[in-house]
Amino acid sequence: MSNPIIQFNHVSKKYSQNTAVDDLSFSIDKGEFVTVLGSSGCGKTTTLKMINGLIQPTSGTITIAGKRLSDWDLVDLRRHIGYVVQQIGLFPHMTIADNIAVVPKMLGWEQDKIDQRIQELLELVQLNPAQFANRYPGQLSGGQQQRVGVARALAANPPYILFDEPFGALDALTRIQLQKELKRIHAALADKTFLFVTHDINEALFLGQRVMVMNQGRLEQFDVPAQIVHQPKTQFVKELLGTVRQNHQLWEGDQDD
Ligand SMILES: Nc1ncnc2c1ncn2[C@@H]1O[C@H](COP(=O)(O)OP(=O)(O)O)[C@@H](O)[C@H]1O
Ligand SMILES: [Mg+2]
Repeated sequence: MSNPIIQFNHVSKKYSQNTAVDDLSFSIDKGEFVTVLGSSGCGKTTTLKMINGLIQPTSGTITIAGKRLSDWDLVDLRRHIGYVVQQIGLFPHMTIADNIAVVPKMLGWEQDKIDQRIQELLELVQLNPAQFANRYPGQLSGGQQQRVGVARALAANPPYILFDEPFGALDALTRIQLQKELKRIHAALADKTFLFVTHDINEALFLGQRVMVMNQGRLEQFDVPAQIVHQPKTQFVKELLGTVRQNHQLWEGDQDD
């Protein structure tokens, strides 16, 4: 049963002559894990930032939970939306616990509830609270810092989480481990809608229940991974899949030239 929670209706974003997002229409259901796949500059970040009101569309309408974005109070909206980016932005002079507690504190939660939440979240992202709660960000590896980034985004229990290439700077093994955990976390949290931007096709196909392929601001295909792989709708999607095949051929040592 579909329950649309994020809807774009002919949304475009132009910067003077440059069209960053071009007539984008789609609908995401509550609880879905959707990945947005596309090369650098194709409009992924612009799309995410329009959802949390950091960027205004030039035309078209965005609807969040049945209410037009223009009718939302932006402070209230952002409280409903967690945001995880590559440049994590943890406060270096604050402990991991305090970093996670920023939004709950802002919302005036009681200290007991905050402490309990920190404990629970650190466990969820597989960081031992006894070991990590009182450390500072500089004392964590890149992968551990991203785990804290995920915990912090979940802190006040927002129904939507936006991820902008959060694992882009991590080494391949750490990245795969975090991908698996994020999938587990999404499955463990009922009804959370995840929108995850990446330029990595393997990451997009592994994480997404549906994958939105973008090219030059436009939507090429929005489908379940198996459909993308077996029924690529456009030349661009075919070429994208071709890059993966090329890699496989390299592994198997049977490239043509
Ligand atoms: N503030 C801005 N002013 C002008 N052009 C911008 C601005 N932000 C992004 N763009 C342009 O919009 C396009 C899409 O950018 P972006 O959404 O950041 O792409 P992606 O996240 O997919 O790499 C790019 O061509 C980029 O140069
Ligand atoms: Mg980007």
